[in-house]
Amino acid sequence: MPDASPTKWHLAHTSWFFEAVVLAAHAPGHQPFDARYFHLFNSYYEALGTRHPRPLRGLLTRPSLEDVHRYRAHVDAGVARFIEEADDAAWQAAAPEITLGLHHEEQHRELILTDVLHAFSCNPLLPAYREPGPRGLRLAHPAPVRWLAGPEGAVRVGHEADGFAFDNETPRHTTWLQPYRIADRLVTCGEFAEFIADGGYRAPAHWLSDGWALAQARGWQAPAYWLAPGDPRAPSDAWQVFGLEGVRELDLARR
Ligand SMILES: [Fe+2]
Repeated sequence: MPDASPTKWHLAHTSWFFEAVVLAAHAPGHQPFDARYFHLFNSYYEALGTRHPRPLRGLLTRPSLEDVHRYRAHVDAGVARFIEEADDAAWQAAAPEITLGLHHEEQHRELILTDVLHAFSCNPLLPAYREPGPRGLRLAHPAPVRWLAGPEGAVRVGHEADGFAFDNETPRHTTWLQPYRIADRLVTCGEFAEFIADGGYRAPAHWLSDGWALAQARGWQAPAYWLAPGDPRAPSDAWQVFGLEGVRELDLARR
C-alpha cells in the first residue's frame, strides 16, 4: 500500500527527525550513525535533502530491526548529551525543535497503528493485532441532534495562545465563513448505518464532488473497516467493524 510505511521505517524516521533537525543543526560534535540514513529516513522535508520514495519503503528489508534499534539508541544518546551540555543560548535555540520532535514521534506512534490496521485488514483472515481489552460500558443513545449556527463573515483563525502548535496551525489569519449550522454532537455509528440503509452511498446529493468521485472509483459502500451484515469474511446478521482487536459487533451508539 503506497501510503503505508513499515513499522521499522517509522521507528527509524522519528529518530532521523531528531538527528537531522536537532543534532545536525545544534550539536556540532555529533557523529551520524550512518550518513546514508539521512536519505533513507527523510519523509518529505525538501529543505533537509533527498529522500527514498514512500511507495518503495515497504521494500526496505535492510537495515535490520536490530540496526534500527541501534540507530535509535545512538540518536537518543546524542540528544540526551546535548540537553545535558547545552548552555542557555543553545537550549533556547533547540528546545522548540526537540518539542516538535516529541510531538512528531507521538504522531508516528499513531501512524504505526493505522498502518498495522490497514495491513491486517488486507488479510482475509482479519487477524487481531492485540487481545481485546475490557469492553467498558456500552454508550447510551444520545439525545437528538441540535443544529447550532456559528460565527460567519470575516473571522480570525489559527493558533494564538502560548505553547506548542504545529506549523499548519499558524500563522493566525483572517478567513471568510459562509453562514452554516453544525451539529452539537458527533454522528453515531447507528445514524451512519441508517444513512447507508437509506441509500446514502447511491445519492450524489449528499456528497461533495471529489468525495463522490472517489467513492464511485473505489466502490465504497460503507466506512473503511465496516463489515455489512452477511459479509463473507465474518458472517453476521449485524453490522460489524474490524479494528486492532479483530472483528467486533458495531456499537451503534458509538460516535
Ligand atoms: Fe514524519
